Amino acid sequence: MPDDDPFSPKVFDEAYAQISKAPRTNRLFDQVLGPFPADVEPFSLVPREGLDRVFTELRLEPGVHLVDLCCGRGGIGLWFAAASGARLTGVDFSPGAIAEASRRADLFVSRSRASFVVADATDTSLPAKTADAVVCIDALNLVPNKNGLLDEVARILRPDGRVVITAWERRDSEAKDLPPEYSITDVGALVEAAGLRVLVREECDHWLELQQTFFQHVIAEDSDDAEPALHSLAEEGRDFLAVAASVRRLLLVASV
Ligand SMILES: C[S@@+](CC[C@H](N)C(=O)[O-])C[C@H]1O[C@@H](n2cnc3c(N)ncnc32)[C@H](O)[C@@H]1O
Repeated sequence: MPDDDPFSPKVFDEAYAQISKAPRTNRLFDQVLGPFPADVEPFSLVPREGLDRVFTELRLEPGVHLVDLCCGRGGIGLWFAAASGARLTGVDFSPGAIAEASRRADLFVSRSRASFVVADATDTSLPAKTADAVVCIDALNLVPNKNGLLDEVARILRPDGRVVITAWERRDSEAKDLPPEYSITDVGALVEAAGLRVLVREECDHWLELQQTFFQHVIAEDSDDAEPALHSLAEEGRDFLAVAASVRRLLLVASV
């Protein structure tokens, strides 16, 4: 049976299997969007300057509980936990991503400071009001039930806890033919609908420029012999470059 859902756990499992065997593709992420600290290996499109900003906005302190929602291979949350002394829970619905994140945890922190859970972002099963901070990098756009994800953030955050989200919005709510991942017209309104208070909403044009440059490099290197991960990203890149002028890149910080 073909998998019709372009963002199912199975599709991400396959993507993570590909990227884990793709040194050239990982190097391109690092060369164009990085450099990232060793082993972080994001599978997302926020450049280094953006991740540094996300880290600052989370205001982490030693011992606080950080939840990395849709954590993928876990490197970003692990980096932030190592740099701050926070405890980390990573959540992702891709068993392959969580296996990889668990395997890599002790490259960053002691085992007791990081755990990873296979769960949907709309229903993490984490106890209510136990997260001091939540980070969600480049995933909100991929989750069909965006209200469900943000309600879950509001449920798990402690009073005064902060969430930092990176996402894309469509510039023109009337624009046609944008793929489903660009269906959001107002991230801030979605966040407020979950009962959260928006503290920062920033348009990040430079991130968008670097994303375009990244995909241009990927497409230039695509060939019959290219790593399967690079080939898949080149397809994604062609789709993205066709609509790039119609989307906005956003950093959003909110609080309970
Ligand atoms: C673009 S990747 C970003 C991964 C990670 N945040 C990073 O920056 O490297 C999006 C991630 O969202 C996860 N994801 C998508 N939909 C999800 C859902 N409904 N519940 C949990 N995870 C989901 C995918 O498995 C994937 O790991």
